[in-house]
Amino acid sequence: MKIAILGGTGSLGKGLGSRWIKAGHEIIIGSRDLSKAQEIADQLGLDHSSGMLNIDAAKSCEIACLTVPFANQESTLLSIENALHNKIMIDATVPLMPPKVMRVQLPEGGSAALNAQSILGEHTTVVSAFQNISAELLQTDAKIDCDVLVAGDLIEARNIVIDLASDAGLTGWHAGPLCNSVAAEALTSILIAINKKHSLAHSGIKITGH
Ligand SMILES: NC(=O)c1ccc[n+]([C@@H]2O[C@H](COP(=O)([O-])OP(=O)(O)OC[C@H]3O[C@@H](n4cnc5c(N)ncnc54)[C@H](OP(=O)(O)O)[C@@H]3O)[C@@H](O)[C@H]2O)c1
Repeated sequence: MKIAILGGTGSLGKGLGSRWIKAGHEIIIGSRDLSKAQEIADQLGLDHSSGMLNIDAAKSCEIACLTVPFANQESTLLSIENALHNKIMIDATVPLMPPKVMRVQLPEGGSAALNAQSILGEHTTVVSAFQNISAELLQTDAKIDCDVLVAGDLIEARNIVIDLASDAGLTGWHAGPLCNSVAAEALTSILIAINKKHSLAHSGIKITGH
């Protein structure tokens, strides 16, 4: 697939981008700064990636993934206008509100993913995923001991994102409608707290019973 990673110059964007390139996808790194986007795209592999401004990346892709800090989620989505109409956008945003990142702090609107859906409107399908995965590990070839909770209102769209999780070497699970994203978003603060108190680098979650 042709995947735009909006804010793809950061840790999570580079991690997902590098894994999806290895799986054969074409990656467009999106940024506010064209030269920065092109530099990261070059680092990821010229034949399978390109760098563009976020709006152009959103226009050019088949599917988009948003990887910007919560504080910049709204402004980034407003900047891409209607470019994601009739497309899926994967939202990996965790509503962390520093400095208290070990405390679950949910945004007005219920969750970051619901806010994204409300900003983008009904013509874009938001699916939430990847909130609990370490960007640092994604940037390596390591096996990642953490599953992906995939929340979204359309089963077909969730299936596509579960396949993309698999392409990144991860197991994705149907986590129900988009409103359930709140659980995955909240879990990240708990994992950060576990990392700190138990001196772990990358705690994760696994679905058992299968
Ligand atoms: N890091 C992780 O392990 C991890 C794991 C799961 C989920 N997440 C979530 O994924 C998202 C991205 O995390 P990250 O660690 O990749 O973030 P990051 O590296 O801090 O930032 C990602 C990109 O966001 C853009 N950005 C920064 N400030 C901005 C601003 N003022 N306005 C618009 N864009 C801005 C930048 O792109 P340009 O400067 O190129 O525009 C930056 O490269 C966050 O919501 C985070 O909670 C992170």
